[in-house]
Amino acid sequence: MLMRAVVQSGPGGVGTLSISMVEKPVASAGQLLVRVMAAGLNRADIVQREGHYPAPEGASPILGLEIAGVVEAVGGPSRFKAGDAVFGLLQGGAYADYALLDEALAIPKPDSMSWAEAASLPEVWMTAWLNLVDVADLQAGERFLVHAGASGVGAAAIQLACLLGAEAVASASADEKLDFCRELGAVQAFNARREPVFSAQIKAKGGVDVILDPVGGSYFRENLACLKPDGRLVVIGIMGGRSAELNLGLLLVKRLRIMGSTLRSQPLAVRERLARALEQVVLPAIAAGKARVTLDSIYPLSAVADAHLYMEDNSNLGKVVLDLSQVMQM
Ligand SMILES: NC(=O)c1ccc[n+]([C@@H]2O[C@H](COP(=O)([O-])OP(=O)(O)OC[C@H]3O[C@@H](n4cnc5c(N)ncnc54)[C@H](OP(=O)(O)O)[C@@H]3O)[C@@H](O)[C@H]2O)c1
Repeated sequence: MLMRAVVQSGPGGVGTLSISMVEKPVASAGQLLVRVMAAGLNRADIVQREGHYPAPEGASPILGLEIAGVVEAVGGPSRFKAGDAVFGLLQGGAYADYALLDEALAIPKPDSMSWAEAASLPEVWMTAWLNLVDVADLQAGERFLVHAGASGVGAAAIQLACLLGAEAVASASADEKLDFCRELGAVQAFNARREPVFSAQIKAKGGVDVILDPVGGSYFRENLACLKPDGRLVVIGIMGGRSAELNLGLLLVKRLRIMGSTLRSQPLAVRERLARALEQVVLPAIAAGKARVTLDSIYPLSAVADAHLYMEDNSNLGKVVLDLSQVMQM
């Protein structure tokens, strides 16, 4: 059986993407075959498309890390059955009419949520949870800084920090994005790209305990300057370069911790725990109006190249999602 999917002729720009018919996957034990109704876009998809972030061994080479859709078949005993509406995190394969979702990572889709809204949640909220809760151990009352605060991950991180009782500070590159960060709960928002020596204004308010940084090299020096004693820096991206000089003296004197992580490389058991946090803590918070889905735009699958260009242009506030609910004639 064949299905529609986004395929790539090789690493490169959006011109390498096209829609084609490929073999439909078959669910093994522990997997659900899901008819994909919506797939979330992530910056990682762009980096993978460019050839800098290959899919892990055994994962689908098709782009896309998160889906919402209808269970078509189960590969073994499961709490789900055909016809159930689910969403969840993948290691690849979301940009297709059908995808395999690990049963352990599947989450029932709330009726109140659209397909696109549900597909926008797993990658960013699970990344935020992993890094704020597990890696940095962010505590209530602490002060937290996230860079690229209006990105998908940034929007989730600001909101999670607030849910944890911490005080969120965010950087972003445009006034509209800074307003968006404030609406999500940031008490301070600034343009780190326009003000490269941004530590002065953070230190003026006492510094921060934890930084979540997807930028890396270009912000490293200022990040260390922003941190209070016992501060933690978690690097989750290298959009601003992969290398930087480290002042070891600062590390010692301020007792700093510098850490890094990727969600995709986590063992299934860790990703399962993060899926339960999303299901049992984040979804109720959204239902109670204490957090919200930050959906920027929805593109039909046929416009996948436009969706990538929009994200590459740093235009999105929150999430971009592909709509696969319409069956396209080919
Ligand atoms: N390690 C992990 O497990 C993990 C998981 C998910 C995401 N990530 C990383 O988290 C970041 C956000 O991902 P996303 O999917 O949420 O992205 P996104 O929505 O596409 O947002 C990315 C934002 O980063 C900012 N940016 C881009 N290039 C930059 C540069 N050179 N210097 C500073 N800021 C830059 C832009 O915001 P401004 O216009 O405000 O500058 C851009 O809108 C990415 O770096 C991604 O790789 C890591």
